[in-house]
Amino acid sequence: MNELAIIGGTGLTDFDGLEITHRQVLQTPYGEMSSPIIHGSYCGKSILFLARHGTRHTIPPHKINYRANVWGLKELEVKNVIAIAAVGSIHPDMQPKELVIPHQLIDYTWSRKHTFFAENLTHVTHIDFTNPYCENLRNQLLAAAQNVDFKVYSQGVYGATQGPRLETSAEIDRMEQDGCDIVGMTGMPEAALARELDLCYTTCAVIANEAAGRGAAEITMAEIETNLTEGIGQVRQLLAEVIRLL
Ligand code: HPA
Repeated sequence: MNELAIIGGTGLTDFDGLEITHRQVLQTPYGEMSSPIIHGSYCGKSILFLARHGTRHTIPPHKINYRANVWGLKELEVKNVIAIAAVGSIHPDMQPKELVIPHQLIDYTWSRKHTFFAENLTHVTHIDFTNPYCENLRNQLLAAAQNVDFKVYSQGVYGATQGPRLETSAEIDRMEQDGCDIVGMTGMPEAALARELDLCYTTCAVIANEAAGRGAAEITMAEIETNLTEGIGQVRQLLAEVIRLL
């Protein structure tokens, strides 16, 4: 049994301070995972780390093999998964560099391989997804957030878009009307696949930019990278705290 795996997103392709014991390349029935799984220990706890976009950050959101990634973690008997995700902010209070632990999501992605329950079925299965994130793990992240001195929003609705392009301002207006607070490209189908395999999965989102039409006229990669450098520093602190509490 492995207590915790961290899926690193944009800006987090490795995990500072993790004492690496070994790297493992796993083959799954769904093909290759995004990167080798890094096994290590942090504050005396054994942790796994997976770089969602590949070790060199070369796999765009719509090309990620989400099924292989989630299957691989299950095969390694992972119990809890914290998924780090860079997002744009839609809610006017939410500012770049701040963190959000979402409690809900809306899926706008299309044509991704989004289920394990498609082939060789003996019966049709529908997972319950009323609450897409594991409440227990969310609460542990929120407890950890009490011990840090930066802003962590305790809830928010994550809208998952297809990418890799950013959205139009009209798309963001529509998402806001739908109730979305933040927008990212990797939250789905990852969360649903984790539920299908009974993993306790939750997301820690870091705001990279204001969403389209909400800030400066144009969103630049330079702006995203600058905000993420600082935001990811906060993610690392929150992870250290939650691992200490686990
Ligand atoms: N939209 C979608 N995904 C993102 C954004 C955004 O504005 N910023 C970082 N990931």
